[in-house]
Amino acid sequence: MSAPARVLSLAGASVQVFVDSSSACLAAADAIARTIHAANGRAVLGLATGATPEPVYARLVGLHRAGELSFAGVTTYNLDEYYPISPLDPRSYRAYMHRHLFAHVDLPPNRAHVLDGTVPEAFAAEHTAQYDRWIAADGGLDLQLLGIGRNGHIGFNEPSELAVDEALKLPTRLVSLHPVTRADAAREFDGEAHVIPRALTVGVAPILAARSILVLAFGPRKAEAVAEAVRGPVTPRLPASLLQTVPGKVVWVLDEAAAKGL
Ligand code: F6R
Repeated sequence: MSAPARVLSLAGASVQVFVDSSSACLAAADAIARTIHAANGRAVLGLATGATPEPVYARLVGLHRAGELSFAGVTTYNLDEYYPISPLDPRSYRAYMHRHLFAHVDLPPNRAHVLDGTVPEAFAAEHTAQYDRWIAADGGLDLQLLGIGRNGHIGFNEPSELAVDEALKLPTRLVSLHPVTRADAAREFDGEAHVIPRALTVGVAPILAARSILVLAFGPRKAEAVAEAVRGPVTPRLPASLLQTVPGKVVWVLDEAAAKGL
């Protein structure tokens, strides 16, 4: 059990600040394990990729190997996937999930959902609408794990000029990536020019409908987006600020560097 160094209550959210990202990730993994246990093993989880949650998955795999956690009754829905991309491509989020979690635990493969980067474009809207229907048919998400982009994106819901009420209704869909997101993905794609410029993402509406939301952010590069999301105005220009519209169910899990602006 890893305890936060301090806990703040800001704009309806609980903000847990840990001395470092390793202890924060242990706590996040323990929160996910508790969610699974509380659902008698049958939790429905929304999962994120990226650098931030890698140690969380490592800890979940460790708990599984120690015989303390089973995914046999769990269902997962990943947040996003590049488009178009093959699941065999090591840069796909399906491949990421396989590397970091799916290959190492007893999660049934037919309940490990990732948006399909191979769906023909003419069917993308049908596919993403079906993804939302499947989440709803599974009873909704017990917990959504999120990271945050430097531009404040959640999933690949990028900054926009929409009105707040329009942004809150955004469903799962095909989107174009923001320049900051493309720059940040340059490393995985061997240069910004090679970054796949579009993606399928779970929308703002299904994210906010989750019964609990755990947002992870570490390091100084995230501090500004975190401060804006937690204390700034609610605006689709910084999509993570929309989390303020669901008070009582958001927990921010930060290290000291990411919490610097709070
Ligand atoms: C990933 C996702 C993104 C990332 C965000 C932070 O599934 O939805 O919103 O959480 O871009 O990425 P990292 O963790 O690499 O800094």
